Amino acid sequence: MYKLAVAGTGYVGLVAGVCFAEKGHQVTCVDVDEDKVALMKSGVSPIYEADLEELMQKNHAAGRIDYTTDYKAAYRDADAIFIGVGTPEQPDGSANLSYIATVARQIAESIEKDCLVVVKSTVPVGTNDKVEQFIQDFLVNNVRVEVASNPEFLAQGSAVHDTLHAERIIIGTESEWAEAMLKEIYAPFYLPIVSVNRRSAEMIKYASNDFLALKISYMNDIANLCELLGADIQDVAKGMSYDERIGSKFLNAGIGFGGSCFPKDTKALEYIAKQNGYELKTVKAAIEVNKEQKTMLYKKASKRLITFNGLKVAVLGLTFKPGTDDLREAASLENVPVLLAQGANIYAYDPVGADRFAKEFPEGQIDKGTITYVSDIEEALANANVCFIFTEWGEVKAVLPHKYRELMRTPLVFDGRNIYSVQDMQDAGVEYHSIGRPS
Ligand code: UGA
Repeated sequence: MYKLAVAGTGYVGLVAGVCFAEKGHQVTCVDVDEDKVALMKSGVSPIYEADLEELMQKNHAAGRIDYTTDYKAAYRDADAIFIGVGTPEQPDGSANLSYIATVARQIAESIEKDCLVVVKSTVPVGTNDKVEQFIQDFLVNNVRVEVASNPEFLAQGSAVHDTLHAERIIIGTESEWAEAMLKEIYAPFYLPIVSVNRRSAEMIKYASNDFLALKISYMNDIANLCELLGADIQDVAKGMSYDERIGSKFLNAGIGFGGSCFPKDTKALEYIAKQNGYELKTVKAAIEVNKEQKTMLYKKASKRLITFNGLKVAVLGLTFKPGTDDLREAASLENVPVLLAQGANIYAYDPVGADRFAKEFPEGQIDKGTITYVSDIEEALANANVCFIFTEWGEVKAVLPHKYRELMRTPLVFDGRNIYSVQDMQDAGVEYHSIGRPS
């Protein structure tokens, strides 16, 4: 078993650290935020993620994982240091690598024995060559240090499961030493390992995410056409899915992809291509379709209603997908301000995302409208004039069609996640508009 350090305790870093500890490695997670470190030490996870807190507590009690702000102590004698800090999008679409650079420098100044530095963060192809050079340039002690690429494929909401049961581990290395060590670190996971060079590993991450984003935008594009032609996107997707070359996953049309990954990684790859004199037309199209799709529901509702002024608008779901409290690039963030500007009185429900949303949109008057957060879906629906569904939470799916008719003033529902059968809603007397299906 190895002594590992993990830089950054966001989704990628913390989950990786906890899973390495679960597999028997000795792990120290490093973060600059003292409050966050104290919280984690007390067994509380700073992010909402199934099974995470339980595994944090179990492995902390077993002495296999600890948390610190003292990076020097954590890096000094680590066999390998995993970097999982953020690479946020910059206004031009490129990735901001300043957090990686800071960690790289700290590593160079701290390590006292041979060390493998493993970059898990999503970084533009070629970055890890530069990270290695950067560490060499600032190295204080005479030790061997190499950088490997090990992109992460976990999805929020199922992060721990995705890590422990990953479909593949990608390792990008430039020496047998690095390859052998990474294979040994992952040996207790018993998962398929694909070993490639560093640049290919970096590219696999972008190519995979952008392909999935493309798949979603393609289905949304087809969904919009289905509406015009009287076809049903769910039936179309079902028919397509039997072809194993297409597969059955990621064929759900809706109000576009959100989150911290697809929007960022599509723009980043398009940017990288442009920097290299190449136009990545497919990815560019996926980005454009997604932008339009985010406000598709609002556009539909605007055609149906003369105004939102003074109307009670129920908003069900705020996060970019269920199972997470993350709001990044969520469709709600695009639609709520427009509704408020039109004078809507919004009653918003989200089982875990409401507090975060309220930080950006505090309860009370905003613009010409108001926003109120409710913890009960029925309270949101009571006497509402219109309902928008932005996230397919289980709690929302559990609302039976007749409830909309019984509770709302006018049973008018715009569903961005296609959670109901059109027929069931019609039978319940609900005017139901969804994506890519007949109304
Ligand atoms: C995504 C990838 O799925 C992970 O494999 C990857 O590791 C991760 O990005 C990352 O790069 O870190 P995530 O953003 O957590 O994971 O969430 P997804 O479940 O992929 O959903 C992304 C967005 O696509 C959501 O807004 C979701 O509603 C939307 N989506 C997904 C659809 O609109 N239709 C679908 O069929 C699937």
